[in-house]
Amino acid sequence: MNVQKHEVLISAIHDKFKKAGRRRMKMDVVVGDEDDAGQQDADASALEECAGAAVSALPINPKLFLRRYQGTWVLEPWVPGIVAIQRGFAPRRGDVVLASPPKCGTTWLKALAFATMARGAHPPAGDPRHPLLRANPHDCVPFMERLFAAGLGSKVMDALPSPRLMATHMRHSVLPASIADNPDCKIVYICRDPKDMLVSMWHFSRRIRPDLAFSDLFEAACEGSCLSGPIWDHVLGYWNASKASPERVLFLRYEEMLRDPVGNVVELSRFLGRPFSPAEEEAGVAMDVVRLCSFQKLKDLEVNRTGSGSSPLGGVVREGAFVNSSYFRRGEAGDWANHMTPEMARRLDAAMEEGLRGSGFSFS
Ligand code: A3P
Repeated sequence: MNVQKHEVLISAIHDKFKKAGRRRMKMDVVVGDEDDAGQQDADASALEECAGAAVSALPINPKLFLRRYQGTWVLEPWVPGIVAIQRGFAPRRGDVVLASPPKCGTTWLKALAFATMARGAHPPAGDPRHPLLRANPHDCVPFMERLFAAGLGSKVMDALPSPRLMATHMRHSVLPASIADNPDCKIVYICRDPKDMLVSMWHFSRRIRPDLAFSDLFEAACEGSCLSGPIWDHVLGYWNASKASPERVLFLRYEEMLRDPVGNVVELSRFLGRPFSPAEEEAGVAMDVVRLCSFQKLKDLEVNRTGSGSSPLGGVVREGAFVNSSYFRRGEAGDWANHMTPEMARRLDAAMEEGLRGSGFSFS
């Protein structure tokens, strides 16, 4: 990975996002900067078709600002981005897509995958200029829906150096065939106990919606209409894909990564075609990656304590709302017990069990 080029590009993305965010807080037709006009035609035409009437015809969950698109609930401003990805994503050999429902460890996975892939140019230990010491993980790996919704998909993705790392919250059935059926493209999926996911989502959402009741999120999750819901379908899609094509889809669990981070990083590096060499094993490089990306290490960094509004999500949805520190809360399993009664937990567990029945996968 050419990290320097990658970094320059990512910072260019942020400038664009900031400009784009000021102009496009609503879902209107994307009009690019004059200098981008040529490159953005394809994205813009897909977005145009999706703007206004088409999106407003989709089923809505008004409390959570969600629309149901192709059977899954997504944030309204992401819909045009998904349509643009489905129509215009140009795959490249070696692409790696990090997929997850929101609040399931995306930030951690981005950091681990980036550190693993970039370790040739930037050793995870002893490099004071390591990008992850200076930038939030979301600023190192772009979020596809946001990028394409901003009309910057083709331009930015084309310019990213190979192998490209990118992230999405799209469920598997919504991915374009250019990703889902592509033998040259790998997918790393991470999921988490949905009870902890909900708690994490509630705390995160309350930063911009202090009035949001936990019960609203909880009911939506049980009914299948929370963000990325039904959650069981999101998980099931990637679980089945990982069973059918284990060489192309790696299925990870947040709790398992907490339990054995080094083992999971070793597996991740193998899956990505970058196994640790005997010399690296001897030197403990996998452990270095884990240390660099640990919750406390990232949380305590200046950029993540005080940085703001530079992530793709924060930059466009509501500028500056999601400060970098908002991606690091507790970083543990089991916080749901502080927010749910045993009866609520049983209800959500039962909904998940029902949705996952027969799959061979279970959160319990
Ligand atoms: P909590 O809110 O339960 O603490 P996402 O990155 O998908 O938005 O998920 C956010 C969750 O991952 C938050 O969970 C956050 O604290 C946790 N997290 C962020 N970075 C982490 C890391 N390096 N290690 C473990 N957990 C991390």
